[in-house]
Amino acid sequence: MIQATLHQLKVFEAAARHSSFTRAAEELMITQPTVSAQVKQLSQAIDLPLFEQIGKQLYLTDVGQELFATCQGIFEQLDLFEMKVANWKGMKRGKLKLAVVTTAKYFVPRLLGSFCQQYPEVDIALQVTNHQDLTQRMQANLDDLYILSQPPEDFELTSESFLDNPLVVVARSDHPLAHQQKISLKDLQGEPFIMRESGSGTRQCVQKLFEKYKISTQVRLELGSNEAIKQAIAGGLGISVLSQHTLISENNQELTVLDVEHFPIQQRWYVVHLSGKQLSVIAEAFHQYLLEESQNVYSRTLSGQIKV
Ligand code: PGA
Repeated sequence: MIQATLHQLKVFEAAARHSSFTRAAEELMITQPTVSAQVKQLSQAIDLPLFEQIGKQLYLTDVGQELFATCQGIFEQLDLFEMKVANWKGMKRGKLKLAVVTTAKYFVPRLLGSFCQQYPEVDIALQVTNHQDLTQRMQANLDDLYILSQPPEDFELTSESFLDNPLVVVARSDHPLAHQQKISLKDLQGEPFIMRESGSGTRQCVQKLFEKYKISTQVRLELGSNEAIKQAIAGGLGISVLSQHTLISENNQELTVLDVEHFPIQQRWYVVHLSGKQLSVIAEAFHQYLLEESQNVYSRTLSGQIKV
């Protein structure tokens, strides 16, 4: 039986996650020599090295990687246990690990705000990234719940849809097509187009539609942020397809939605978790909250929205 303390495992887990003793020390609010000493003692107890240093970079050895995965499992189980205890005591307390695609950041924080008013003792870790990175996080089982609009089909997920996510064509208000109705897709062919980065779910969806109708667009610019795309449209660099959610906070008249055939693309938002995953009490509560309350919370934020 390996003689390791929970504290040593905690220190090791933080060092492995950050690939850095210094950052682990910062996170745990202890000194860097304490991190080194704890890792050294753990390594002696196992009788094998856990890290190797190549140049300035710290790498996990094979046994280090195995221990890292084991620690993640142990701490996840302990968190679950702690939350169950809190639940038995009638409190909803603990951490919610949520990862959402970039476009969902326009409504998820508001939902979290009202959720946290109900459960003030819940801590939230929110990751915002694009569709491809989110899929990788799912595969690595890094979070409790995920929010996106095209759940991957290549692994077992439990997903439920909870809100509309229409994708619309956005142009500058003085664009020549701005006041036309029933614009055909073909009319977009010559337009300079601003596209999200590869790996974006929005981009995938737009490309699928354009491929289906054999539309070739002239991509002038690729950008990894919806906000940057809106600025580029306002700057006259071209048109783009964005989720209508990205326009919610717009209160100026610079942008408009074009009336193009086959648009809006009617997508839905899904809340997803790995099928085998045992959800914590808090994750269950947030899941339920999303399904029951998201429409109400969202409707309350629509006042300044650009109409489709
Ligand atoms: P994206 O994903 O932010 O990666 O474009 C949006 C989506 O899933 O609809």
